[in-house]
Amino acid sequence: MVTRRLRVGVLCGGASAERQISLATGAEIAAGLSADRYDVVLLDPLALMADNPALGAERRALAVRLRGGVAGESLPERDRALPAAIRDSMERAALRLVAATGALGITGAERIDVAFMALHGPWGEDGRLQGLLETLGIPHTGSGVLAAALAMDKTMAKTVLSSAGLTVPRGVEVTRAMRAEAGWRAAVHYPAVVKPVRQGSSLGLSVVPDPDGLEGALEAAFEHDDRVLVEERIIGTEVTCGVIGNDSLQALPLVEIVANGPVFDYQAKYDPSASQEICPARVAPAVAVAAQNAAILAHRALGCRGLSRVDLILREGRPIVLEVNTMPGMTANSLLPKAARVAGLTFPALLDRLVQWALEAG
Ligand SMILES: Nc1ncnc2c1ncn2[C@@H]1O[C@H](COP(=O)(O)OP(=O)(O)OP(=O)(O)O)[C@@H](O)[C@H]1O
Ligand SMILES: [Mg+2]
Repeated sequence: MVTRRLRVGVLCGGASAERQISLATGAEIAAGLSADRYDVVLLDPLALMADNPALGAERRALAVRLRGGVAGESLPERDRALPAAIRDSMERAALRLVAATGALGITGAERIDVAFMALHGPWGEDGRLQGLLETLGIPHTGSGVLAAALAMDKTMAKTVLSSAGLTVPRGVEVTRAMRAEAGWRAAVHYPAVVKPVRQGSSLGLSVVPDPDGLEGALEAAFEHDDRVLVEERIIGTEVTCGVIGNDSLQALPLVEIVANGPVFDYQAKYDPSASQEICPARVAPAVAVAAQNAAILAHRALGCRGLSRVDLILREGRPIVLEVNTMPGMTANSLLPKAARVAGLTFPALLDRLVQWALEAG
């Protein structure tokens, strides 16, 4: 009997500012999925968006090229300073990308059996693409529409997390319309962290020691979103906690993050020499358990599935939840796979489980 290998579409690239990081994630997931069991194709949903007026001209032109089967793209300036290994992954993925049009089965072509989600940021991690896949009846790894949308929206996520009893940083959301108003400024606690509401990889994020720096920081954040969060800066030990599973959840060992600068910024996230990531975190066992419990509670409160990575700061041993990522970085050296390895789960084994959970949920 010949059994057909499962056709897995690794969805990567996409339209967000984290496109290149997503390509690196996609390349490594494709490399980590067992070739004996899976028939893997790298699919770019940007190809679906060629006519979407919400995208800039450059993104739409790339979407058109993808639809025409033209591979390859140049790296944005920001990514040229990253280490060679991650740039190689980005370039390798870009050359293998296939437009995610036929493979979704809309035209009846060779439809995938399961979508492995490897997108970061808006249009991929925020529920909109999950909605399309669920409409088409294609199982996908990770969270569904609502959880993905809630987690991507830091303001909404904080509201849900705090009503579940978790502690989140005090903060205020500022819209473009509110920017000229004075009222909200009294609610800002310094030092503050200013960040776009819906963005990842620390893009558009700044630390502001006093009111003088606020305007510049708002400017940088509004480049990424028309809603911005101004939060109190939490001082403590930064950790992140992976949560995996469907109905039964496992919190992975904490990873402690020691960035060279004041925050875990874009460069530090993707350049191993710019931070230390220590797993398990050097904290007392009871503190680690409290943080893991907070991560599971956060994952459940938002209704996540499959996997999430909850970012926290331990202030005097107590967990403060910064945010929940439903599609965390998934290169073999990213935080969640690193923690899984410490828990005895290799990268290929982790990928296998995620595919299995997607099929169960679908
Ligand atoms: N309120 C805060 N207090 C202290 N540090 C903060 C705060 N908010 C953010 N940071 C720092 O900035 C980093 C990025 O913030 P956050 O995780 O909220 O944003 P992100 O860009 O969505 O991240 P990711 O890449 O994990 O998706 C954190 O890892 C932390 O170092
Ligand atoms: Mg984060």
